[in-house]
Amino acid sequence: MSTRSRPAFRDGGLTVLANRVARTGATTPAWPPRTAVVTGASSGIGREAALLLAAGGCRSLLVGRNGAALDEVAAATESHRIAVDLAVPGAEINVASRATELLGDIDLVVCSAGLGAAGPFDAMSPDAIAQLVAVNVLSPMALVRAMLPAMLDRGHGRILIVGSIAGSLGVRGEVAYSATKAAMVGFTDALRAEVGRRGITVTLCIPGVVDTPFFQRRGAPYVRRWPRPIPPALVAERMLAATGRGRAEVWTPAWLRGAVRIHDAAPSVYRGLAGVFG
Ligand SMILES: NC(=O)c1ccc[n+]([C@@H]2O[C@H](COP(=O)([O-])OP(=O)(O)OC[C@H]3O[C@@H](n4cnc5c(N)ncnc54)[C@H](OP(=O)(O)O)[C@@H]3O)[C@@H](O)[C@H]2O)c1
Repeated sequence: MSTRSRPAFRDGGLTVLANRVARTGATTPAWPPRTAVVTGASSGIGREAALLLAAGGCRSLLVGRNGAALDEVAAATESHRIAVDLAVPGAEINVASRATELLGDIDLVVCSAGLGAAGPFDAMSPDAIAQLVAVNVLSPMALVRAMLPAMLDRGHGRILIVGSIAGSLGVRGEVAYSATKAAMVGFTDALRAEVGRRGITVTLCIPGVVDTPFFQRRGAPYVRRWPRPIPPALVAERMLAATGRGRAEVWTPAWLRGAVRIHDAAPSVYRGLAGVFG
């Protein structure tokens, strides 16, 4: 199936959303969105999200560092692109002002840019920890902070953050990465509580293992036989559908939610299972 005919925008959740919004006085966020900013759009999940958004008629500003990869996605989606290092403080101001200049009001912000790190925590350099926090924690917070006032003024907008199962379970050998993704659980929960009644939806996507260059980039390939990596297009489709419905979170694959329930309800059982399955 071509990306242009994918069903992510057949949204049955808009009625529920409209009723909720009517009670709070905020306006209905547009869906499909007309405009979006997508970070991590040069690769993997963010790239697939950009393709799907374009298929739904959305005009986007694509954000990444790799100019050639961004050019390819921008050409395929007739989008704008900006090559910036989001780890550099202030980059988000550049992105936000360019987005407004090129697209006007922004309906959706997708924060997919991120990087991994694997290996024993006691061998990890402070610089590597700082870089991970800068990209995975500070950059989405800074970008949302930069985009939020205009959304609040308009009384509607959508925010989609790509977290990780590592943020809910804590993965051995990925201590710092797990901590950065756990930060996104707190960030999205608190932000939703703060702005949810003012027309802003906040969705956290919690993927498991996804077949992208993520593992190669972190310098440690994915070697487990289970769970098998899922395609990034599937993650993008599910997270955008959940965002359209105003859902708080979306787990991909969905069974991950069960693993977290065991982790939360019976931590010692979970630790035993994790010891067996890794
Ligand atoms: N793959 C998985 O198994 C998995 C599982 C759970 C969660 N996730 C999360 O999913 C998100 C997307 O990852 P992915 O799997 O799609 O990985 P990916 O293919 O490696 O894509 C990562 C994206 O982040 C961008 N990025 C990284 N550092 C950046 C920086 N300093 N400034 C600007 N952009 C930067 C990259 O842009 P450039 O290449 O242009 O630098 C790239 O577009 C990440 O937040 C990751 O933590 C992935």
